[in-house]
Amino acid sequence: MTNKILVVGATGNIGRHVVTGLRERGADVRTLSRFAGADTVAGDLTRPETLHTALSGVDSVFLLWPFLTADGAPAVLDVVAQHARRVVYVSALSVQDDESGVWGQVEAAIRHTSLEWTFLRPGGFATNTLEWAGAIRAGQPVRMPYPKAARSLIHERDIAEVAVLALTEDGHTGRAYPLTGPGALTQAEQARILGEVAGRPAVVEELTAEEARAGMLAWADEAFADGALAYWRSLVDIPEPVTTTVAELTGHPARTFTQWAQDHVDDFRALPAAEVGERYVAAFRAGRKDQAVRWMAQDVVRVAPLENGGKHVELRGLAEIMANAERLTRDTEIHAVAVDGPYVHGDRFAVRFSFDETHTPSGQRSTMTKFCLYTVADGAIIREEVSYFDPPTG
Ligand SMILES: NC(=O)c1ccc[n+]([C@@H]2O[C@H](COP(=O)([O-])OP(=O)(O)OC[C@H]3O[C@@H](n4cnc5c(N)ncnc54)[C@H](OP(=O)(O)O)[C@@H]3O)[C@@H](O)[C@H]2O)c1
Repeated sequence: MTNKILVVGATGNIGRHVVTGLRERGADVRTLSRFAGADTVAGDLTRPETLHTALSGVDSVFLLWPFLTADGAPAVLDVVAQHARRVVYVSALSVQDDESGVWGQVEAAIRHTSLEWTFLRPGGFATNTLEWAGAIRAGQPVRMPYPKAARSLIHERDIAEVAVLALTEDGHTGRAYPLTGPGALTQAEQARILGEVAGRPAVVEELTAEEARAGMLAWADEAFADGALAYWRSLVDIPEPVTTTVAELTGHPARTFTQWAQDHVDDFRALPAAEVGERYVAAFRAGRKDQAVRWMAQDVVRVAPLENGGKHVELRGLAEIMANAERLTRDTEIHAVAVDGPYVHGDRFAVRFSFDETHTPSGQRSTMTKFCLYTVADGAIIREEVSYFDPPTG
């Protein structure tokens, strides 16, 4: 029998620590990513048929479900159960009170399989505060709804440590672990701690629920946005619960939010252009566009030619830029992105991106190359100038 363990989400916040922790224990680890690399197997949870290679010979799976609906989960779990014996799934604390959301539905789908399961049910992740990194780096107000909402944010390393135990020890089958940080802090207190650790005092600006909702609809559907806002509102009066499960299982107290801020201080400091460029490019290379975008100031300006060339148009603000990117790539399937750079000069850096992509309506596959010149101020990208290059013809 094999003890091979497949880590899904291995490039993410928790997964990378799960991989390290398992390797430290001498486990036989395989990692999954949509973007195959040297020691990563390619697979996509939205296409269950792509997962067989990664799952072949695997005994246990560390699973997260990085989507806002559970629609595709039964099909993926069916494939997982064809290969593996055990799954450790990153669910959410909210399932204890409400099994109707995406995490509860994925748990239910897991229970329907023959897999031995352990559910990790963390509360809010400390990594959620990375959303404020751009503002803190630039010395701008940190904008949030419900600054008095108190959350027991958890360090991703604590979730990963519990995952490693559940994947390598007996006795965790059929258990659901509520995991939180060691205490509850209001969002305003979290921002203050981040500012202190980064050496740049953070000023909080309260968003109305409507303003926050409008921002969330750029990436979430209405049901998710409304559910999250109602939950945060409830945390103003009743702080998120604090559990001692991390300490009981790992033998040490859960890490504090201040520890988390210290571990992530570089994300909140105003780094010079050369370092911003390195990190921006590294995020793209790791297939983490979401992390790359965090290096952009909220009011970043993008200057790019119209699709059919010629006139340059200027877009202002991250929200508008992301909406535009979504429009431009709607009919495009990207197979791989080659990233060349950064080429740094003073407060600017340049990057060449080559996209191996298929225009889905026509089925035509080609390489699209663009050069981007970025200007950095206060550790954030404030301007992106784009030039496109057509693939050579003939
Ligand atoms: N944020 C919270 O407060 C909170 C609370 C409770 C539970 N959760 C759960 O925690 C999870 C996030 O964990 P995290 O922060 O460690 O993740 P993360 O840093 O957001 O990374 C997401 C991971 O998912 C992988 N991924 C994305 N789409 C994929 C696909 N189609 N096929 C295969 N892999 C895919 C990515 O891998 P590649 O890019 O390499 O493919 C990446 O490793 C969420 O899914 C959520 O369910 C979050």
